[in-house]
Amino acid sequence: MKNFYLTTAIDYANGHPHIGHAYEKILADVICRTKRLLGHEVHFLTGLDEHGQKVEQTAKERGISPQELCDSVAREFIEMCAFLNISYDDYIRTTQPRHKAIVGEILQKLFAKEDIYKAEYTGQYSTRAERFLQEKDKVDGVWPEIEFGEVTEITETNYFFKLNPHKKWLIDYIAAHDDFIFPKFRAKQVLEFLKEDINDLCISRPKNRLSWGIELPFDPDYVTYVWFDALINYISAVGYGGEHFSAFWPVDYHVIGKDILVPAHSIYWPIMLRALDLPMPKAFLVHGWWLCSGEKMSKSAGNVVDPLDYARQFGPDAFRYFVIREMNVGQDSDFSHELFLSRYNSDLGNDFGNLVSRTINMLQRYCGGVIPTIADPETPETEIMDLWSRTREKALEAYDQLQFHRALEDIFTFICAINKFLEIRAPWKLAKSDDPKDSLRLNNSLAVCAEGIRLAAAILAPILPNASQKIYEIFRLDAVAWGEYLQWNARFLAGKSLAVESLILFPRIA
Ligand code: MSP
Repeated sequence: MKNFYLTTAIDYANGHPHIGHAYEKILADVICRTKRLLGHEVHFLTGLDEHGQKVEQTAKERGISPQELCDSVAREFIEMCAFLNISYDDYIRTTQPRHKAIVGEILQKLFAKEDIYKAEYTGQYSTRAERFLQEKDKVDGVWPEIEFGEVTEITETNYFFKLNPHKKWLIDYIAAHDDFIFPKFRAKQVLEFLKEDINDLCISRPKNRLSWGIELPFDPDYVTYVWFDALINYISAVGYGGEHFSAFWPVDYHVIGKDILVPAHSIYWPIMLRALDLPMPKAFLVHGWWLCSGEKMSKSAGNVVDPLDYARQFGPDAFRYFVIREMNVGQDSDFSHELFLSRYNSDLGNDFGNLVSRTINMLQRYCGGVIPTIADPETPETEIMDLWSRTREKALEAYDQLQFHRALEDIFTFICAINKFLEIRAPWKLAKSDDPKDSLRLNNSLAVCAEGIRLAAAILAPILPNASQKIYEIFRLDAVAWGEYLQWNARFLAGKSLAVESLILFPRIA
């Protein structure tokens, strides 16, 4: 079995989960579920980024300790993951001893190699971004207030991690590895950033300015800069240097949003890994942002979408379906309540849910709740079978290319074709006929629907895990599996008696 390791960004522990956090985890989850069904040994890591100034400040504002804040935010994020059916294997929190120990070990190693040095620095510091700014951070000659907040000049003695000696290597590496950054156009942005000199990275904060962080092992007056600490989660969680680490590193995908590619993931992280003599990640999967009517979501604009509100009202599968259907991975996408409602009622309720409930009802009414065999299929039946093999190929290819919205489009075209087939066959009319051929057609039509539903449920399992499992349960089948079970084979269901009288998967909501 091939090992597959995937990580998401670790979320800041200073706010509530929103659609952006939820989407990233759902996207990662869909990929991991797909890989598991394809037979890979998957390790799926997500977690919480708990240090830094923002966490310290928010805790202060709320009159609680930073650790109390992190614990309560962790509960919220973990609850969201559970509710959305996120099948992670490990949840790392950067305040955990397992992480802190490895950050300390790595800092010590890099300090000993003189990759980290101490120096006095005067620069323009942004509290919001928690870093010194550079000229190239300016847009139209100014540091954007929205991104950097108040910017002040400060002089400080700090520890720095050398970046510049690796610049040429990094440029060459990105140019030579076409698959390093997905989608490809994002690599250009990184190369653009690398055109100018890059300042060494300040990796410490004096404790008199910030105390909520991991203490530097070689200087107790300082804590580690939050990004340097956070990036290490990807290797600390799998036990850097140990057996599990060798089995899973290099990571297959770091799934991140577009805002944290440059410089953190595409400059700092590869250089940190290189300084540690570790192989590069196989790929970064950089997704776009969820917007609201084209605008950035923010607390002040009051347009933040709470994934739990939607998942509670419509069910976790419906939320998963919507974000995967509407987002072309890599591009931005707009969230709107109207679109959500229409996707829910029309795709899930009408097309898929109705097909399932009608088929169950007719199987109960005309076949005593037992799924018939298919004998002597005619053109309408064979057309559905043929369409399935094309759909399966296209959907698997789309999954492989991370084109999940396209996979859903194809799968729902197949579901709609079964609905049309039902209208053409009209089992309710066949049931009234005395012609023995019609009774064969009746059985065939319902068996085709059942098998089509089984296959749709199987291929949709990474995106709609609950609905797929329910469908499998009513057919009295074991857990969804792929491989030969993705082939059209009516024998899997023939003779099975349905476990329920009726089922409404996605009740209509106005
Ligand atoms: N803590 C850092 C990441 C450290 S990884 C070593 C961070 N946290 S975050 O909470 O601000 O963002 C977590 C992830 O959510 C990021 O990948 C970010 O791009 C993503 N999103 C935040 N808002 C988003 C949207 N509106 N839409 C989609 N994803 C966005 O950055």
